Amino acid sequence: MAEGVNIMENNDRQITWHAMDITRERREELLGQKAAVIWLTGLSGSGKSTLANALEQQLAEKGRHTMLLDGDNVRFGLNRDLGFSKEDRVENIRRIAETARLMNDAGLIVLTSFISPYRNDRRIARQIIGDAFIEVYVSTSLEECEKRDVKGLYQAARKGEIAEFTGITSVYEEPEHPEIIIDTGKSDIRESVRELLEALDKYGI
Ligand code: ADX
Repeated sequence: MAEGVNIMENNDRQITWHAMDITRERREELLGQKAAVIWLTGLSGSGKSTLANALEQQLAEKGRHTMLLDGDNVRFGLNRDLGFSKEDRVENIRRIAETARLMNDAGLIVLTSFISPYRNDRRIARQIIGDAFIEVYVSTSLEECEKRDVKGLYQAARKGEIAEFTGITSVYEEPEHPEIIIDTGKSDIRESVRELLEALDKYGI
């Protein structure tokens, strides 16, 4: 058997896993960091993207190598074929989890900003990503998100102009055991990022 071949086989599909010489550990070593996924979940308008953006800036200041995957942005490219039905959201999150894992293999610290409303999908994401998965619940209340209504989507959803809108006509299942909880209704962005950084410190990030 050739070296590095056949670690895992899938005979139904005639594919074979190749183990490469440069591993995640080696890439992490080269970058001088531990790869992780900081998975932000919460309602639309809860502050996920703003938080992720500000957090990424702070991590860059610390010399960390990062990548940010954002719900709205990813839907312009990789997930442009997906809408907001349950089925599409499940696939949206599966693809993001797999992408984040690949980026982890590249040694990166990945920040994801998706509503990811279903508990089961976040559980699957955790399975795909493994120990590197850190779930951050951006717990800003529906009332606060609707009051902000930055994109005007809540108003449109209330008028029945958007089908299956999370929090209004589609469910959001709160995380039961997130690693970190941040409520941007209670603390401003600066304070929220400070709290996040402090909490992430425990995970060596
Ligand atoms: S998820 O539910 O599949 O995780 P994702 O985070 O990718 O959602 O996209 C959410 C963003 O899409 C929202 O912030 C909002 O701007 C937009 N959006 C458009 N339609 C909907 C909808 N029906 N429900 C929720 N968000 C929507």
